[in-house]
This record gives sequence, C-alpha cells and structure tokens, in this order.
Amino acid sequence: MCFANKGFKVTGIDIDSEKVKLINMGKSPFREPGLDELLMKALGKRLLHCTTNQEHALEKSGVSFITVGTPSLPDGSIDLDFVGAASQSIGEALKKMNKYHVVVVKSTVTPGTTEKVVKPIVEERSGKHCGSEFGLCVNPEFLKEGSAIHDMLNPDRIVIGEYDKRSGESLEKFYKDFYGESMPPIIRTNLTNSELIKYANNAFLATKISFINTIANICERLRGADVKVVAKSIGLDNRVSPFFLNAGLGYGGSCFPKDTKALIAFSKSLGYMPELVEAVTKVNEAQPFKAVDLAEKLIGNLKNKRIAILGLSFKPNTDDLRNAPSLKIVNFLLKKEAKIIAYDPKAMDNAKKIFGVKIEYASSAIKCIKGADCCIIITEWDVFRKLKPGDFIKHMKKPCIIDGRRIYNTAAFLDDTKFMAIGL
Ligand SMILES: NC(=O)c1ccc[n+]([C@@H]2O[C@H](COP(=O)([O-])OP(=O)(O)OC[C@H]3O[C@@H](n4cnc5c(N)ncnc54)[C@H](O)[C@@H]3O)[C@@H](O)[C@H]2O)c1
Repeated sequence: MCFANKGFKVTGIDIDSEKVKLINMGKSPFREPGLDELLMKALGKRLLHCTTNQEHALEKSGVSFITVGTPSLPDGSIDLDFVGAASQSIGEALKKMNKYHVVVVKSTVTPGTTEKVVKPIVEERSGKHCGSEFGLCVNPEFLKEGSAIHDMLNPDRIVIGEYDKRSGESLEKFYKDFYGESMPPIIRTNLTNSELIKYANNAFLATKISFINTIANICERLRGADVKVVAKSIGLDNRVSPFFLNAGLGYGGSCFPKDTKALIAFSKSLGYMPELVEAVTKVNEAQPFKAVDLAEKLIGNLKNKRIAILGLSFKPNTDDLRNAPSLKIVNFLLKKEAKIIAYDPKAMDNAKKIFGVKIEYASSAIKCIKGADCCIIITEWDVFRKLKPGDFIKHMKKPCIIDGRRIYNTAAFLDDTKFMAIGL
C-alpha cells in the first residue's frame, strides 16, 4: 500500500481468496494504524489490485517481492514450504515473460535459502538463467507491527543482498524512485549476509528484552530496586540506547520467537550451539508466568477469583495474537481455575476465536475491571495508561493490580492500591 500510494502500480498476490476479496473491497484483513486510509486511497487511484492469479499479475511487472510466511517446524527450524511454492509460481509466470524481472525475497529466510531454494526453483520452472535473464535479491524487512507504515516510509536503512550487480542496481533504483529525496542509507551485500543480518537484528533486540527482564527479576528480590530506574539510566548510555529496554512479560509476535528459534536450529546445523540465543529464548519463555506468580503473591489462591486482563495483543496498536504472552498467561490462569474477563482495544475478535467461551469479554477497560479481585496489565495500550488508582478503587472488588508492562506511576499506585509490578 505504501508503494501504491507513491504512484507505483502494485498487484498483491495471495492464495487466500478471502483476504484478496477483503482488500479489493477496501477492508484491511488486519489492524494497523493508518492502513485502512492508505488502502482506500490506493484503490481509489486504481494503483492497487489484489488477485489469486499469479501469472497474470506478474506479466506486466518489473519486480516481485516474496513476502509469504516462514513459520517454525516442530524442531524450531524454518518451514520453507510457502517460499518454495511462491518461487514455483514466479518461475511459471517468468516462463512467459520476455523482459528482465527482479525477484526479491523479503520474507525472513535462513542463510542459503535464496541461493539454494529460491534460485533453482525459479530457474527450473522458468527455464531461464538467474543473472542474465532475471535478477535475484534478498531485501529483509525491519518494520514493526503497530507502526508498520511509519517504519516502511522512514526506515533506518535498506539492506539489499544481490545475486549479481545488475540485480542489486535494479532494486536500488526502485528504492531511489520510491524514497526520492528521503532515501535512507543503503547496504549492498551478498545474499548470505543479508539473510543473516535480519536474524542477527532480531536476535539482538530479543536479547535486549531478555536482558532487561533478567535485571527485572533481580530487582524483584532486592529491597528498593526498580528496573525502570535502572533501564532509564543504562539506556542513556549511547552504546546501549533506550530502545527495547522495557521490562515486562516477555516478547511475542510472529517474528522474535520464531526467528530466534530458527537461528538456533540453523546454527546447530552448522555444528555450533548458540548458547546466548538459547538463554534469551529460555528467559522469554518463563517471563509471562511472572504475571501469575505476582497475582498469587498479591491475592493468594486464584481458584474462582475474578481476574481482569487488560490487553491481549502481543503489543499495542495491532490485533495480532501470534505468540502473545497473553495466551500463556490466560491458559495458566484457567489451569488455576481462575475466572477471567478480558479486554483489548483491537484484538477481541481474534481472542474470541482462540478462547471461545472459556473466558468472558468486556467492551471497555472499566467494564473489565468491574468487580474483579485482581487486574493484570498485559499489553501497554495508551488507553490503559490513562487509568488512575481511583478508577481501580472505584470499580474493583479490591484494588489489586499487577503492572506487567510498567505503565503506571509506582508511587501513586503503591500509596492507594495493592500493587505489584515487573522489576519492582
Ligand atoms: N509481521 C511482521 O511484522 C514482519 C516483519 C518483518 C518481516 N516479516 C517476515 O515477513 C514474512 C511474512 O510475515 P507475515 O507476518 O506477513 O506473514 P502472514 O502469514 O501473516 O502472511 C503471509 C501471507 O502469504 C500468503 N501466502 C502463502 N503462500 C503463498 C503463495 N504461495 N503465494 C501467495 N501468497 C501466499 C498467506 O496466505 C498470507 O496471507 C515472514 O517471513 C516474516 O518473518 C514479518
């Protein structure tokens, strides 16, 4: 949609006909700030069209981006079935094309995939040679869900892994046309480096999160310690930077959990055990359960207690529940026979598909906390930040609050409510 809104003619291809139908009707299949407006504009200008017909779509295009999912197999390694299928379709379509076309792998793939999986499939299906008859690049995506459009329009850098110079130059030209004056720094390198850069990037960010959660777990055992003060101070060190240093209930989403696992499996396949990354995932797997520990410390046995859950999506400004810490927390609370009522500003429909009638759903934060024995903040939505101690005192059975994302003013809450927080 960003490409289309800058004047490029874009065809979106998906095998999911429901998604295609929705997008062509002007309805985004997921929630992302600003996306619906961009979609309407792109459709209005007739610059975007979606289809399930791959051959027809590729015919007139100069560049195609593979953006299919790369989920985890049961052993954590990457599942390349979707990438393989997309490569086949691109190859079939290329067979009938006479002009030079660049194939770009934007999906996150382990090093070697583009050269050893995508290239041979496209060559075999198209009967054409990579390099002379079509180009091939890796162009990892670094956007964050919740600010995807902003990140797409203002990236820190563009990474282009190129099979050969012509491929890289074609893609660089495309981005120069797209970004114009505000062209970000560009890194041009080989296919392997660019594939590894994406994994290294995500593993580093995941490491920062698990690191600060480790410090938080130390703080909780240390009278007077507060991870928020510690994080703010170390974040001011330019060598550290303040980003991804918020202690909480762990990272989730469709990328960090699967990409750290894929990096571990890939590294093991090379004969090297990446112990640091393993520790990062281990810390993260345990972190959501802290919410339940703290609730038990605050109100005792949770059986038949009414627990209000504020926030279900893996982060604010998205309706994405993939690997969200809330899933583990709610399931653990259910095991403890707690009664759960939940509210999320955007993820309610997705939550209902997962939890069904096992939990209750509220239509606002205030309705959610009404009559509850304990409230757990799982996602740091702005609307929850606005709640004051008085709101919890007025509406809950007893104001017992677990701040799982450190969104509240500790002093004010400690004065007036029963309050526990990660890293405090
Ligand atoms: N979600 C993010 O924030 C993010 C950020 C950076 C990178 N990535 C990477 O981008 C890739 C896609 O992630 P996602 O979250 O959008 O995945 P997704 O599963 O939400 O979307 C992938 C889409 O591809 C479609 N698809 C599958 N096979 C196809 C085929 N053969 N032809 C056409 N369409 C096909 C699916 O139907 C689906 O709609 C992954 O590799 C991910 O790691 C995602």
